[in-house]
Amino acid sequence: MKRLAGMLLCAAVAFGSVAAPAKDAEMESKIDALLQKMTLDEKIGQLNQQTGTGYSDAMVNAVKGGAVGSILNEVDPEIVNKLQKEAVENSRLGIPLVFARDVIHGFKTIFPIPLGQAATWNPALVEQGARIAAEEASSVGIRWTFSPMVDVSRDARWGRIAESFGEDTYLSSVLGVAMIKGYQTDDLSQPGTMAACTKHFACYGAAEAGKDYNTTWIPEVLLREVYLPPFEAAVKAGSATFMCSFNDINGVPSSGNPYLNRTILRDEWGYDGMLVSDWGSIQQMIPHGFCTDLKDAALKGALAGVDMDMESYAYVNHLKELVEEGKVKESVIDEMVRNVLRLKFRLGLFENPYVDMATARNFYTGKALSAAVKTVEEGAVLLKNNGVLPFKQIKKIALVGPMADDKHNQAGTWCFDLEKEHCVTPLQALTEMYGKDAVVYAPGLEYSRDKNEQGIAEAVEAAKNADVVVMVAGEEAVLSGEAHSRADISLPGAQTKMIEELKATGKPLVLVIMTGRPMTIAYEANLADAALYTFHGGTMAGSAIANLLSGKSVPSGKLPVSLPKMVGQEPLYYNHKNTGRPASGMVLIDDIPLEASQTSTGCTSYYLDAGDGPAFPFGYGLSYTTFEYGDVRLSDDSMGKDGKIEAACTVKNTGSVAASETVQLYVRDLVGSLVRPVKELKGFEKIYLQPGESREVKFTLNASDLAFWTSAKEKIVEPGEFDLWISGDSASGTPVKFNVTE
Ligand code: BGC
Repeated sequence: MKRLAGMLLCAAVAFGSVAAPAKDAEMESKIDALLQKMTLDEKIGQLNQQTGTGYSDAMVNAVKGGAVGSILNEVDPEIVNKLQKEAVENSRLGIPLVFARDVIHGFKTIFPIPLGQAATWNPALVEQGARIAAEEASSVGIRWTFSPMVDVSRDARWGRIAESFGEDTYLSSVLGVAMIKGYQTDDLSQPGTMAACTKHFACYGAAEAGKDYNTTWIPEVLLREVYLPPFEAAVKAGSATFMCSFNDINGVPSSGNPYLNRTILRDEWGYDGMLVSDWGSIQQMIPHGFCTDLKDAALKGALAGVDMDMESYAYVNHLKELVEEGKVKESVIDEMVRNVLRLKFRLGLFENPYVDMATARNFYTGKALSAAVKTVEEGAVLLKNNGVLPFKQIKKIALVGPMADDKHNQAGTWCFDLEKEHCVTPLQALTEMYGKDAVVYAPGLEYSRDKNEQGIAEAVEAAKNADVVVMVAGEEAVLSGEAHSRADISLPGAQTKMIEELKATGKPLVLVIMTGRPMTIAYEANLADAALYTFHGGTMAGSAIANLLSGKSVPSGKLPVSLPKMVGQEPLYYNHKNTGRPASGMVLIDDIPLEASQTSTGCTSYYLDAGDGPAFPFGYGLSYTTFEYGDVRLSDDSMGKDGKIEAACTVKNTGSVAASETVQLYVRDLVGSLVRPVKELKGFEKIYLQPGESREVKFTLNASDLAFWTSAKEKIVEPGEFDLWISGDSASGTPVKFNVTE
């Protein structure tokens, strides 16, 4: 038994190498000097973010009058410059505007949805995608993006899981930091950068039953252990801004939550960046039933430490009155303004406010397009392959399915700036690769929700005359993303029927699934000979898919989320607790004898119909080669509470093609003063091996990596016994044991 005595309090694990920007004394004194000159109205103006497209009189007057601090959604560089000129040259104090936009997975060159990027398990690629997005967007004047979204997402019904890095806290932390680094670089003041906005603070991904905006009840331990670490990592990485979430947490909406926004973010983590509300989230504290009216909402937002009001117009309309009535101290306003001005100084906007019109817009460069292809390739997860992939001596391909030639939908959610004409679909790419005569295109269904089965016969006919059938199935972009949750996460429309009919032709059937979320596709994958889960891949999805099917590239994606067998299993995540009666001896629904007794199924933790566990586990993904994992070797079988051990494993490519593999480190704390998860990801490394090549992969595990939060808000390392795995997914591997000693 482990004892609490002698426990060690320790700091959270650090991710990445970016350092939080230190407060710069010179900058702070410039901010103080400006504040001294500002009227209360001008201060409140800085706290107001306003949507606007176009150079309207109303906007010009607001900008000149100092009534707006940031403009959302203007992407015309000439208008950006004209409005900026009003701010810099025609407003009393010349404070520049900051222009913002949701650049979520690319600006013009669209990368895979963040969930698809997470499937690469490749922080360098995620960073590169963000870098390219920043170069493109900043070239029209966008210096602030509302990304990354690091909400840990354990529920596939939630539409915004598409924007997340999936269900794991550690993976989300690492990839969130990579994205921030890509947007901001080490020097945010350079023109090609964008300020990141880490969102949604906090627990938005925990929306009850996966319904968007829904309430959350989060005990302190769960908050600290699962939902907050990616945000803390973002603070350490210097994320210039944060955004509140829409939801309430334990009854308090985030935009009026001083515990989150002041106690944790500012006091505990020492954050000196800027906190913006979500769209209208200050006003939404009224329908939440937390505020009586907009004035009350402005009061609660300001007191909770929300610096900038996005689209509620609560601050511009009510903060002055609240200060005059003595309900909000001017020093509180000053602090909020300071945070906004600090962002503008950090972005270098005072020195460099304008878009350089002489520089060409940097869209769709060769570098951007090939990075986009590579990201789809590395994030496509091969779920199943009975040998049909990669194609061998294929002369005729029947290309079917509603997503095979759908530029809009392959791009995925949140693509405001998508230019469809730049997208390459599987139809285009396969035709280019194999020739026009080799690809017979018969979509069968017009769009993913299409229930009209009339076109299926043509697809079946095409299948009969082909060597292989590729069905590009999935869900349209609009079926995931904000406010697009689903209670049924199966393939919509008549897609399953179509798969059944294609299967009946007896031709080799390859399923490619383009989607914004984990879907219940086990039945369909079972019918197919191969299944490739590509998520929504963006501009270059088609090229990457053609490369993968043909073997020009090799799949190496691993699931960043569990794929359920049935939707009723959601929320589903690999790092659950064991329960007192873990699943064993399952008797499933069709095997229960008539009039069997209540206890006949064994009384363990599983579903009568879905059994236990996912269809495909977190971390899972096949390759065109095979990898052999050797025994795990530990540098020591015990460590002290402030010690560390090294865990190593030799991984060998035992197949015939060179390929990448993500080697994953999992740990289980066997006995704790609080029950610990059955497994937790503690490290990973993506390696590339030639056929026959072996590599030793080494992880350093610090005792502090094993720390967990107690309900007393302490992070402790407890002595005791642990299991450790090094494996290719969360469901395989043989554990070795080690101890943490007093
Ligand atoms: C979303 C945010 C987004 C904002 C601005 C909101 O509806 O929740 O994630 O950044 O709109 O467009």
